[in-house]
Parts: sequence; C-alpha cells; structure tokens
Amino acid sequence: MSKRAAVALVATAMAVALTACGSGGGSGDKASGGGDKQLTVGFSQVGAESGWRTANTKSVQDAAKKAGINLKFSDAQQKQENQIKAIRSFIQQKVDVIAFSPVVESGWDTVLKEAKDAKIPVVLTDRAVDSKDESLYATFLGSDFVEEGKKAGDWLVKEYQGKTEPVNIVELQGTTGSAPANDRKSGFGDVIKGDAKFKVVASQTGDFTRAKGKEVMQAFLKSQPKIDVLYAHNDDMALGAIQAIEEAGKTPGKDIKIISVDGVKDAFTAMAASKINVVVECNPLLGDQLMELIKKVKKGETVERRIKTVEGVFTMDQAAAALPNRQY
Ligand code: AHR
Repeated sequence: MSKRAAVALVATAMAVALTACGSGGGSGDKASGGGDKQLTVGFSQVGAESGWRTANTKSVQDAAKKAGINLKFSDAQQKQENQIKAIRSFIQQKVDVIAFSPVVESGWDTVLKEAKDAKIPVVLTDRAVDSKDESLYATFLGSDFVEEGKKAGDWLVKEYQGKTEPVNIVELQGTTGSAPANDRKSGFGDVIKGDAKFKVVASQTGDFTRAKGKEVMQAFLKSQPKIDVLYAHNDDMALGAIQAIEEAGKTPGKDIKIISVDGVKDAFTAMAASKINVVVECNPLLGDQLMELIKKVKKGETVERRIKTVEGVFTMDQAAAALPNRQY
C-alpha cells in the first residue's frame, strides 16, 4: 500500500471512530447505546479519602468491566476544580455518558450546561448537586443522607431515653460543602433538637479521613471538659477518633459513645470490640445499578429521577455476627 493510501485509510478510520463515539448521547442513539457498539463512560470520582470510597471505586470499575463498558476513570482528589477539568475533558473526548460523584453540592451549573449543550447525558451517583435546573442531569443514584443522619439521631434518643442529665456531643463532619456532610448534620440535628438535654458542644470537619478525624478529636478532647458522645459522619473519622480517645486514656464505646456512618469492615471490627456503639449503613456497592442506569439513559429510556439505596442500622450487639457477611 502506498504511503498516500495508508494516510487516507487512517483518516477514514478516525472519522468512523468519531462518528461511532457520537457527538453526544442524544437519547435514542442506538448505535452507541443499544449494545452493538461499546459504550464509553467518563466517570469522575471524588477521591480515595475513605474505605467507603475505595469500595465504591472498585464496585464501579468491576461493574463497568462486567457490562462491557469502556470506563474513563478520573480521581479528583477531593477537589472540585479537578472534577470540572475531568468533565470538560470527557466532553472533549465525546464520551457517551458522564457519571460523577460531586465532591461538593454547589457550583456545577456551568459545566453541566456544557455537557448538556454537547448532548452528553449526565448521571449523578452517591452525592447530589444543588442545581435548580433539573434538566442538567438525567438521574441521581445514591443514599438518602438526611435519613442516615436521622437514624443516627434516633439511636441516640433511644439510648438516653428516660435520662435527664445533659448529653454533650461532639461532631466530626464530612468534607465541608459536601452533600453527606450537610445532610447527615441536618438529619441528626432535626431529631435531637426536640430534647434540650442533647447539646452539640463542638462540631468540625474531619474531611472524611482517618488522619483528620484523629487530629480533630484530639483537639476536642483538649478543649471539651466533658464529652459523652461522638457523632462521626463516616467510619474513617470514627476510627481515627478512636485512636485519639485511647491515647487520651479513655475507653471508646464506654466513656465516649460513638455513632458512625458507612459500615465498612474495619468499623464492624471496632464495633465487635465494643469501641463503636452504632453504625448507620451507607452502601457503596452502586456499580451494577449505575451501569444499568447509564445504558438506559443512553438508550433514551425513562429512568426515575432519584433512586435511593436501601440501608440498615447495626448496633454493637449485632456486630460480631454481621462481620463475616460484610462485603466492603
Ligand atoms: O459520599 C459518601 C461518603 O463519602 C461516605 O460516607 C464517606 O465515607 C465518603 O468519603
């Protein structure tokens, strides 16, 4: 083959590939969404801040592989600007669908509008955005974080039922501005505000990490003369805080009762050792459901606007029995 013919062949192949990718995922585009052609999905993950996140990433990657989806994965390292860059790059690459788990709730309208203009559907997973314009994304799959906060509050109210002495609570919040931090705080607050004995004496972000959870708990222990309860917005912060509590010569789960959220294996191990009193489950294994949704959205099928994950609550007495069955 002459050099000229080879160049022409490559150019034709590139043009075909670009057409196959589609200039966007207009609904009903069977060629790239229906199963004949492989679907390309851009996925922007929050980061690798917690055990929950590691399990979620694995679930999404495994499910994409199983579904035969070409997943372009990008880790934002807990920075919104990185997610915006990743989404713009996915738009440039003309992926079929963009899925992402927003680090924070606000500030997405511009980039989501760019995806919409490029006719690339967006699926939100795990965390929500606060955009007023609901046409900017197709659906949102994830937990109800307000409900999780309420479940944490319900446990506390029950635990101290009939008691009148003040209950001093310290709160380790998740990443500032993130949906789980906002919602877990408000859900919990709504439940305990009806009883004056509950007092949140200190509340600060631990950014969903063990290191920060430990650091902030150390500060709480220094500044607060009496702490009865720790409410941690995730397991990693609770596990970091446990180290701080033990180093301060106190017994976690007894001197300071601990409420946590997620339900990762390490937290169940700590709960089985009586160091955490209750864990509100937040399920990270969203991969298979996400891939199904992505395929439907690309095909232009109707999907529910909001799909909630089903989750439970586990107490100390259930931990040992539940531990072998934990999948993350
Ligand atoms: O968005 C889900 C939250 O993010 C999890 O509870 C936390 O562990 C993670 O970092």
